[in-house]
Amino acid sequence: MNGKSITIIVGGGIAAYKSLELIRLFKKAGASVRAVLTRAGAEFVTPLSLSALTGEPVYQDLFDLDDEAQMGHIQLSRTADLIIVAPATADLMAKMAHGLAGDLATTLLLATDTPVLIAPAMNVRMWDHAATRRNLATLKADGIMMVGPDEGDMACGEFGYGRMAEPEAIFATAKAALGAPGPLSGKHVLITSGPTHEPIDPVRYIANRSSGRQGAAIAEALAKRGAQVSYITGPVNIPAPQGVEVIAVETARQMFDAVSAALPADIAIFSAAVADWRVDGAGATKIKKQKGALPIFTFAENPDILASISALPGATRPGLVIGFAAETDHVLDHARAKKKRKNCDWLLANDVSGDVMGGADNQVTLIRDKGEESWPMMSKKDVAERLAETITKALKTS
Ligand code: C5P
Repeated sequence: MNGKSITIIVGGGIAAYKSLELIRLFKKAGASVRAVLTRAGAEFVTPLSLSALTGEPVYQDLFDLDDEAQMGHIQLSRTADLIIVAPATADLMAKMAHGLAGDLATTLLLATDTPVLIAPAMNVRMWDHAATRRNLATLKADGIMMVGPDEGDMACGEFGYGRMAEPEAIFATAKAALGAPGPLSGKHVLITSGPTHEPIDPVRYIANRSSGRQGAAIAEALAKRGAQVSYITGPVNIPAPQGVEVIAVETARQMFDAVSAALPADIAIFSAAVADWRVDGAGATKIKKQKGALPIFTFAENPDILASISALPGATRPGLVIGFAAETDHVLDHARAKKKRKNCDWLLANDVSGDVMGGADNQVTLIRDKGEESWPMMSKKDVAERLAETITKALKTS
């Protein structure tokens, strides 16, 4: 980060205190940081703490003659390598999406041609609101990068998505955005995640309870370490991970095609809960209810993506192929058999008899030829971090 220049816009949210830690991380890494504090932000952190940490004046007013004499707001918007909005409140995001420029922060954001990274922070209902969804879609289409929000307890006592990403996560995303190399730089990872939907007819489908959270967390953990990640996901209701190429699919066959198209890869991780079967001959017209006659479906087998990729010959096979085994009983026995059958290099076994599918935590056992490791119950994010670390270490020693 040496020599990089960051502008941090601190919006008005309880998470503003975390921006102080974020500034400290950038300074420690050798970046120079300028802070812009919104009027609402100043209700949560003081200009004095920001300037003490940045070692620079804090910019607050659009019409401050002293500031304009030192550095005009247009110049302020152009001199950084990256602008970070943390916390990005619902209000700031709405203003950004609509191009409003009523204060220094929003003027700077409208006047800039520098990459912008936002770290949203708000109440879960505000995050879920249709207006925020619209604004988010606009910001994404405008090329604004995003990190978080995380799921968890909120200051207001509710639980859900809306907590600002932790300073370390914002820092890592910023580093990736600035093109800083990580231990997995130059490695291409493909990862499948989420469920598949197999149509019965144009309006009905067969699905499963996979939320895609574990796969998304792994994708993000690898991207953070500099990997180029192709994230192939079935239909999910979670935010897309940061810094990855998102390839959205619906059916197992589409997922298989997307995986084939994303090859070659150094590492392939199959965390998707792929439907084993599809309804044979699902038609283009809706099946009608008929008195006294129940529909009878016949099934066709879907391609086994993990087994197919593991079976690729020579250099076309990714160097490290990792599968998952979600089991409800005899977890390890089934998982060991699965590793053999599918011929993958590593297999992560998890017990899904509880509320793991769709939940926030996971307990996995990593099965490798050289032995097995049972990891304690931890958040899916921590599982992802540990897996990413294990992969990084394995590549170093291979
Ligand atoms: O056979 P089972 O579905 O339990 O195997 C689980 C592992 O195989 C997971 O890694 C899953 O992503 C992968 N899989 C696949 N294609 C399928 C079925 C499973 O890639 N059709």
